[in-house]
Amino acid sequence: MPSGPLAFHELMAVLGVGDLHPGGRQATTFLLAELARHGSRRVLEVGAGMGLTTERMARSGLDVTAIEPNPILRRLLEERVRVPAHATPFEAFEDGEGRYDAVLAEGVLYKLGPESSAAKVRRLLRPGGILAFVDMLWTPAAKPDVVAFLHDQTRAVFGIPMAPRQVVTWEEWKTVLRRLGFSEVVTRAIDPAASPAERRSRRARIALGLISHPELVPLFLSYRSYRRIPWAPPGWLESFTSVWQRSA
Ligand SMILES: C[S@@+](CC[C@H](N)C(=O)[O-])C[C@H]1O[C@@H](n2cnc3c(N)ncnc32)[C@H](O)[C@@H]1O
Repeated sequence: MPSGPLAFHELMAVLGVGDLHPGGRQATTFLLAELARHGSRRVLEVGAGMGLTTERMARSGLDVTAIEPNPILRRLLEERVRVPAHATPFEAFEDGEGRYDAVLAEGVLYKLGPESSAAKVRRLLRPGGILAFVDMLWTPAAKPDVVAFLHDQTRAVFGIPMAPRQVVTWEEWKTVLRRLGFSEVVTRAIDPAASPAERRSRRARIALGLISHPELVPLFLSYRSYRRIPWAPPGWLESFTSVWQRSA
């Protein structure tokens, strides 16, 4: 067991709970179907967390490389699945140009922003390769000073911010991706909440995790009370799952 206070996503992973991105497992199923539809074989997964999606892809026979800078999550990933797992953050990650058929990123690119992440994805993808991602972003209704405050507060409370520090909107993402030579394959607005079935199975996994790690019950309960707070005003956030193709 790691010592010291765990961030929210670390706690969830230690308890055995993954799919910590908007839309949960359903969003992953959608993105993996797109990878299959495009015949992707060699996949780079950015911010793989504890490796649930990594494992699903490896089991389907894909050649997966994972990036996960967090040591707690990377260790859980490496225990789960035997794939190359890199500690280097995506910004600093280097690999052969055009090496990958697909880059998959669930709940992570929001942190890095569109300019640098899209340029790096483009370099790593082969011509015709795809970027498949899911994220939660601010809408134009969001007020910049409040957004910065919410970012800092949620990062302080949960150890991970809920959304970018600047009002980066979906329109901005699309503009940058098009400028860098991507074309949109499919985008779906999604309900960021997990489905009722997924919520039930998540609750069961949390209960089992807490039975194995009773020392984590107080931390879990404090996070649970903070998660009940409606942090952002209605209409300020929206979530998308989206697939883009690199031009040839
Ligand atoms: C919200 S979690 C999502 C984890 C996993 N993709 C999932 O959906 O359950 C974001 C993940 O991105 C990782 N991450 C944060 N900054 C990163 C960076 N600069 N490069 C790559 N991964 C990063 C975090 O360590 C964390 O595992």
